[in-house]
Amino acid sequence: MNLVVGATGVLGSEIVARLAQAGKPVRALVRKSSSPEKVSDLESRGIELAYGDLTDRASLDAACRGVETVYSTATAIQSRQEGNTLQRVDRDGQANLVDAAETAGVERFVFISFRVGGRDFDFPLQAAKRETAERLKSSGMAWTVIEASIFMEVWLGPHLGFDAANGRVRVLGTGDQKISWVSYKDVAAFAIAAAESDAARNRTIAVGGPEALSPNEVIRIFEERSGRPFEVERVPEPALRAMKAGATNPVEETFAGLMLLVAGGDEIDMRDTLRRYPIRMTTVREYAEGVLPR
Ligand SMILES: NC(=O)c1ccc[n+]([C@@H]2O[C@H](COP(=O)([O-])OP(=O)(O)OC[C@H]3O[C@@H](n4cnc5c(N)ncnc54)[C@H](OP(=O)(O)O)[C@@H]3O)[C@@H](O)[C@H]2O)c1
Repeated sequence: MNLVVGATGVLGSEIVARLAQAGKPVRALVRKSSSPEKVSDLESRGIELAYGDLTDRASLDAACRGVETVYSTATAIQSRQEGNTLQRVDRDGQANLVDAAETAGVERFVFISFRVGGRDFDFPLQAAKRETAERLKSSGMAWTVIEASIFMEVWLGPHLGFDAANGRVRVLGTGDQKISWVSYKDVAAFAIAAAESDAARNRTIAVGGPEALSPNEVIRIFEERSGRPFEVERVPEPALRAMKAGATNPVEETFAGLMLLVAGGDEIDMRDTLRRYPIRMTTVREYAEGVLPR
């Protein structure tokens, strides 16, 4: 049995769908507060549900019963409920899950983190991810940590200021920094391939897209595809640093930290990884074709 924690989220629901499509047994952790549409969508596809919460250890013990592989994509950064701080969910809650999985005899644990590189700053979500990865590595389970690059569907989407449909975009930093934009669908494919591969046992794997492109290059792709110039607003790195320094809570500080990661760029050489896991990866051009009006 595979348990997906974060099953109602962007990445987790894709992992669930791919496992189910491949005919693998899958159990989805959902919360009483999860979106009813998302829960009934899982149910309608015949996915086994386990009600629980990372802040409730007993619920995780029950969810992990009979499980061989745990995938954890959960995070409180977007979907917070009353009292669910990053510390309670991303740090203490993930620790609960690692402990529950180990106690239940889970063999393999795949944890989704993000790429940081050698940056000179830290922020609460990054610290929580680091602590979870360390805890997992010292558990008795075989582990894989996926350090994913920036999701194109999220950071090249309207919620984060990339409103391609209306030709208005916000660029973080100079716009010249190369980024290995990756599709969350490809990250899901990697997570599953890694869970099923001996080579990925006890390994951290960086997962980026097929090509590193700067935001300015991305904008040119969208402009060519849509046939019109985009209006570009630029947020310089010092402004993001000021936002981080002036943050009044861990979520604000984390958002500023994530924006600084984007502004700093992230180029991943995927050649070796793709030789080992021959996954066909989505390009930014393909993504642009999918989101721009025809
Ligand atoms: N976005 C990026 O560019 C990016 C890049 C690299 C790595 N990542 C990582 O990828 C992972 C997945 O991201 P995503 O975009 O799929 O996140 P998401 O859509 O916000 O999904 C978060 C999931 O976590 C669940 N969750 C939140 N608090 C919980 C709790 N207390 N107990 C149990 N479940 C809880 C949510 O459940 P509810 O539906 O019940 O709220 C939801 O299923 C994250 O760990 C993120 O750090 C993201």
